[in-house]
Amino acid sequence: MIPSTQESRYDAMVNLHEGEISRAIFSDAEIFQEELEKVYTRAWLFVGHESQVPNPGDFFTSRMGAESVILARDKKRKVHVLLNSCRHRGMKVCQYDHGNTQLFTCPYHSWSYTTDGKLFGVPQYKNLYEGCLDKEAWSLIEVPKMAIYKGTVWASWDKDAPDFLTYLGDARIHLDLALDCRDGREGGSEVLFGVHKWVIPCNWKFAAENFLGDTYHNVSHRSVDLIGIGPSAEAGVKGRRDNELEKARHLWVNFPAGHGVHSAIMPESWEFLDTYRNNPIVAEYFRHCHEERKLRLGADKYRLVPFVGTIYPNTSYHGNQPRSLCVWHPHGPEATEAWRFFLVDADAPQEVKDFLRVYYMRYSGPAGMTEQDDMENWNYATAGSRGVIAKRYPYNYAQSLGKVANPGDAPVPGHVSLQVSEENPRQFYRRWRDYMNGADWDTLLGGKDQGPASLAA
Ligand code: FES
Ligand code: FE
Repeated sequence: MIPSTQESRYDAMVNLHEGEISRAIFSDAEIFQEELEKVYTRAWLFVGHESQVPNPGDFFTSRMGAESVILARDKKRKVHVLLNSCRHRGMKVCQYDHGNTQLFTCPYHSWSYTTDGKLFGVPQYKNLYEGCLDKEAWSLIEVPKMAIYKGTVWASWDKDAPDFLTYLGDARIHLDLALDCRDGREGGSEVLFGVHKWVIPCNWKFAAENFLGDTYHNVSHRSVDLIGIGPSAEAGVKGRRDNELEKARHLWVNFPAGHGVHSAIMPESWEFLDTYRNNPIVAEYFRHCHEERKLRLGADKYRLVPFVGTIYPNTSYHGNQPRSLCVWHPHGPEATEAWRFFLVDADAPQEVKDFLRVYYMRYSGPAGMTEQDDMENWNYATAGSRGVIAKRYPYNYAQSLGKVANPGDAPVPGHVSLQVSEENPRQFYRRWRDYMNGADWDTLLGGKDQGPASLAA
């Protein structure tokens, strides 16, 4: 039975002492609505990439939680994140996915707004509104907190939210490698082509959790590997990659704010250009990148490769090829709208961009061989949890519960496990519970409990 007070309700649903989590948090409509209010109005959310709005007047329509927002560059080149909702009757003032404009003109009664969100035009203003309407006060709603980090644009609706880098904490080390293949070289990354968008019939947390480093599910991708239609498409290359991966020192790391990653310290012999050896231009480009990373990051650090990670709550990333960001937009209790942004070095040769376009689509996105396996898991797990009887039983999150201690010689900061465990999702749901309990930012950033989740639940 669910206890009546809000706080104990979520404490009971997320039982970290036993490693049990109620299925209701993945399907209940009321809980979903509360998430929109308690998680999505506070946490930092990924909105888009600066490369999508390079020129004054450029815009990209994005989402924060279930709400439409406009990422726009004004005529002074400043970037804004604006709620896509007319101040008159709420109509979407921007109906397009992306484009360039001087004004967002509402299709309903034609109020118009400049690209910095200011109310500009009101039909029949003199007759109908003069003296009644302070235009300054009726601009589009702008996010109170916005940050641009290595080209990526993030925002929070909470004016009291910590700054983005504080929120990111040490998860930054891993995210950096995803955002900047060559670690900060001039030019940075850009979004390779249009954003892939599709809807998955599952709760958003299934996907966010998977990207915390659930390598335990890799058996799901076995068929793709066996018949040689994975990204490498070459059994020989795949064999060598598997060999390198076996020699790697794998790390599952979680952070106080709820972020998590599966990274690895690759063996010294590691060369990720193997995959591209049949294309000399692409292979040479990545060989060059690899050497450059060695020089920039130093003999040890260049070997750190983040495979997958999630920045709490709903932005996941691939840090090695493919390099991409994926946002799991909450669409409904049992529906997630996935948006995948593929990244490439902005100044890479066209040949490399063309190659990666095909490579990426083959790997992930709605038609990607690997992503289809994951979607099938989340889809059928949702369907299999829907029954009256099924709903009575919690999911099990007890893997390595109480057994994972932070190794003293961990090569990266954070709560580190040296074998696959469910520490990362336990930390993620611990923070989810805290957001749902309305905790203060000190708690949400782990100020009161820095220890591994399983030992300090
Ligand atoms: Fe936009 Fe009326 S709803 S002008
Ligand atoms: Fe997977």
